[in-house]
Amino acid sequence: MKRLIIANWKMNPQTLDEARRIASQIEHGFLGIDRSKVEAAICSPFVFLPMIKHAVHFIRLGAQDLAAFDGGPYTGEVSANQLLEFGTNLVIVGHSERRALGEGDSLVNGKMRIALEHKLEPILCVGFGTTKNMKDADVKKIIGAQLKKGLRHVNLKKARLAITYEPVWAISRGLGTGKAVAPSHAAAIIKFIKTRVPKARVLYGGSIDSKNSAGFASEGVIDGGLVGGASLHREEFLSIIKDFQNI
Ligand code: PGA
Repeated sequence: MKRLIIANWKMNPQTLDEARRIASQIEHGFLGIDRSKVEAAICSPFVFLPMIKHAVHFIRLGAQDLAAFDGGPYTGEVSANQLLEFGTNLVIVGHSERRALGEGDSLVNGKMRIALEHKLEPILCVGFGTTKNMKDADVKKIIGAQLKKGLRHVNLKKARLAITYEPVWAISRGLGTGKAVAPSHAAAIIKFIKTRVPKARVLYGGSIDSKNSAGFASEGVIDGGLVGGASLHREEFLSIIKDFQNI
């Protein structure tokens, strides 16, 4: 299975110039990567998508969210069709930072379904609510429930989607502690997720950087990463991609 490394820029950077510079640098570095083994995507803030569309050709363009509706009176929302206008073909759904703003499982499910309807590959994030000292069995219960609700009415035999296991406490800033989980823990939970969603690529997210990425890559069962802070630095992000290419 081709590995997938996703840059989640969150609400960064602050200027168009900086966004252009980082996207171009990543695209340039990616030319040296074996694209039969690994693919990469940049999920930028919506406002930068029209520009990034022209800065990347081999890197996929993604969004960090989408509306659960096709159109209409939804102030501030962005529809799947609007994303497709800019060559976006992937979208993060149900990130814990959005869930923390009040997004519940049924809205997450609506977003999954509309993304799939429009052939945008959704990346469903699960892991909200887990704490550092939780036993794997309890983590699996929470994840199992999130998968069930988030994937309601999704045809798992046909759908092209990915799942990210992202324990909230492991995220580098904001809600997290900045400490990645042990690769063996990520691998155990990802194996469990694959029993529920066998055809999906399953990624790990939470403080991945160039120092720990080889450990996650070498677990084998981890199909890639959702990278926040480190994805804003060319060298860091490319080094993570290389580690997943080299396994
Ligand atoms: P992080 O963010 O790599 O900065 O921890 C990951 C994410 O929240 O997507």
